[in-house]
Amino acid sequence: MEMQNMEDLTTDAKKGVVLSGMRPTGDLHIGHFEAVLRNWTRLQETHGCFYFVADWHAITTDTNTKQIKEHSIDMVKDWLAFGVDPKKSTVFVQSLVPAHAELSLALERIVNIGTLRRLPTFKGYLEHIAGDRSRYDKDKNKLSGEARLDAFANAEVSVGFLTYPVLQAADILLYDATDVPVGEDQLPHIELTREIARKFNSTYGEAFTIPEAMLDADIVMIRGRDGRKMSKSYGNHISPDHTEEEIYERVKSFVTDRKKLSDEGDPYECPVFDLHRAFNRDGEVEVARACRNATSKCYDCKTGELPDLIADSYSDYRTRKAEISDGFVLDVLREGNIKAREVTSEKMDQVRKFMLMDYLK
Ligand code: TRP
Ligand code: SF4
Repeated sequence: MEMQNMEDLTTDAKKGVVLSGMRPTGDLHIGHFEAVLRNWTRLQETHGCFYFVADWHAITTDTNTKQIKEHSIDMVKDWLAFGVDPKKSTVFVQSLVPAHAELSLALERIVNIGTLRRLPTFKGYLEHIAGDRSRYDKDKNKLSGEARLDAFANAEVSVGFLTYPVLQAADILLYDATDVPVGEDQLPHIELTREIARKFNSTYGEAFTIPEAMLDADIVMIRGRDGRKMSKSYGNHISPDHTEEEIYERVKSFVTDRKKLSDEGDPYECPVFDLHRAFNRDGEVEVARACRNATSKCYDCKTGELPDLIADSYSDYRTRKAEISDGFVLDVLREGNIKAREVTSEKMDQVRKFMLMDYLK
């Protein structure tokens, strides 16, 4: 069989186009690896995949770009070390593919401000920063409720943060993505993307494929040591780069759901059980049973085989990561960027044509 035919065969076997991005914020931890990257590596076997460094997204909330290069290279190195294969997936940097910014600008014209302000991610962020600024509440012009949130939005939120879901829609629509793997918190953004695509298609012409959110029921959300969402900024995380000893110490310090040995626990209320579900598939049923019946000790539940299972599951990753040079990462990105530019400039030509704005051609 000729090479060409082989290629066609693999393309035909693909079930659709997957696209996903990650912000280069330098805070990857096992939560990202288990909830996102494991899925990415699986999907590249069945779908045409585009994975990108969402750097325009990263600077919507933190304008400091001093570490953006370092964080981007390190993050992509993590992807590659964990199994994202540049021969199967297109890996690229968003800001260096101009069509993302360009389509985003076009789409902003068909989205209302109110739609963006009502998104739960926007409200959630406002409440978050307003909460952080409680020291200002002693001010003489004290505001409350919606008015207070409005004041924060006006003073402290960038236009880019308000519109980043439109940029996200552009990210997705440029590649005719059929499936977008996301967490539950991002579902409203996929819904928005679908609305924007329908609106564009009916206003100007059928340029865009309507994407679907891909929620994987298998994914375990891993909470951090204190039971809150795992995050490097909370210091409650476990990183695949931690040594075995560090992993052991961190797991040992996790809060649990049982105060006393004789208390019956609810494993689903316990962040340690998240770890068992993710890393101890063979043992999780027994762990849950012993927890509910109070026949195990939390100490043993944490320090038994669990830390080793976690460390072992990243040993290949660690070996590979040490072997990948920055230069290799940059080459992968350069090549991915060429491919991404090709795909997206074709799409932008189509967009301009439908918008009747290609008359100099
Ligand atoms: N939603 C994530 C963020 O805003 C990452 C992201 C950006 C993304 N564009 C995307 C995820 C497109 C899926 C599809 O940081
Ligand atoms: Fe958590 Fe294990 Fe203790 Fe149950 S036995 S509360 S799962 S640490």
